[in-house]
Formats: sequence, structure tokens, C-alpha cells
Amino acid sequence: MTTHSVLFVCLGNICRSPTAEGVFRQLLSNRNLQELFVVDSAGTGDWHIGNPPDRRAQNAAAERGIDISNLRARQVNDRDIHRFDYVIAMDRANRQELITLVGQTHAHKVHLLLEFTDIAGFNEVPDPYYGGERGFDQVLDLIEQASEGLLQHILNQ
Ligand code: 4NP
Repeated sequence: MTTHSVLFVCLGNICRSPTAEGVFRQLLSNRNLQELFVVDSAGTGDWHIGNPPDRRAQNAAAERGIDISNLRARQVNDRDIHRFDYVIAMDRANRQELITLVGQTHAHKVHLLLEFTDIAGFNEVPDPYYGGERGFDQVLDLIEQASEGLLQHILNQ
């Protein structure tokens, strides 16, 4: 039985990447695939270590039946690069930080989430932190759509 491992990464690990972790876990659970996957999220920054997801992210996820309240922020580290097969960045700045961290040998593991879908006008999940509630709904829309593509991609490998 193959186990796949996916780490979602954003800047703070309190808005986008915990949302992506929650959405992807729900997708796996709907398809009864959770046993085949290890899923986690982390941030490139250290400001929010130990904190739960932003209240706005929790609320937006809860409206879609996804509970992310028990997740806690952590910072991405060297071991993650060895543990995870897929390291999924929300935006280009996250991807660049990750590539610097992992080096060329593991750079092939790092992808932008929106590589796995085709959404007109978007190739990054925009940082919603300094915006309003609406930004969090958009984050969920983008993540939900791309997660399907990511799952298909991994299962096709
Ligand atoms: P995230 O959003 O990267 O999606 O978790 C942010 C959270 C916090 C900050 C920036 C982005 N911050 O600057 O504290």
C-alpha cells in the first residue's frame, strides 16, 4: 500500500495552508482515501507558531462543513523536506523560500497549488490576511478547485 505525503505551505500557517490541509483532508475522507495519505501544513514564517487558524479562516471553512479549529501553526523545517513527497506552496514567495530551504536536490517536490488546476486570472492563492472576510471565501474557492486536481495528479503517479 503506497502512502503519499503532502505538506501545504504558506507564510503564517494560520490562513491559507491550514485551510488547504482541511479541504484536502475532507476530500480524502469523502473518497475514503485518508489511510493512504499523510497530510500536514506549515508556514515559512515564525510569527504565529502554536496559534490556531485565523478566526476568519475558521469561520469560512466551517461554513463549508470543514473544521480546522484544532490545527496549530508551525514553521517548516529541514526534516519536512525529507518526510514529504509533495510540498505545496500557496504563492510564489512561499515557493521561492521553500526552494532556497530544500536546495536543488529536492526542488522537484515543490509545487504551486494552482499548478493543479486552470483558473483564469490566478496562479497563486492570494494572501487574505490584511483583507476582509470575502478574501477567505475566495481562498476556499481556489483551494477547493485545485485540491481535486492535486489529488488526481498524485493518484495518477
Ligand atoms: P497565511 O496568511 O500565510 O495564509 O497564513 C498570513 C498570516 C499572517 C501574516 C501574513 C500572512 N502575518 O504577516 O502575520
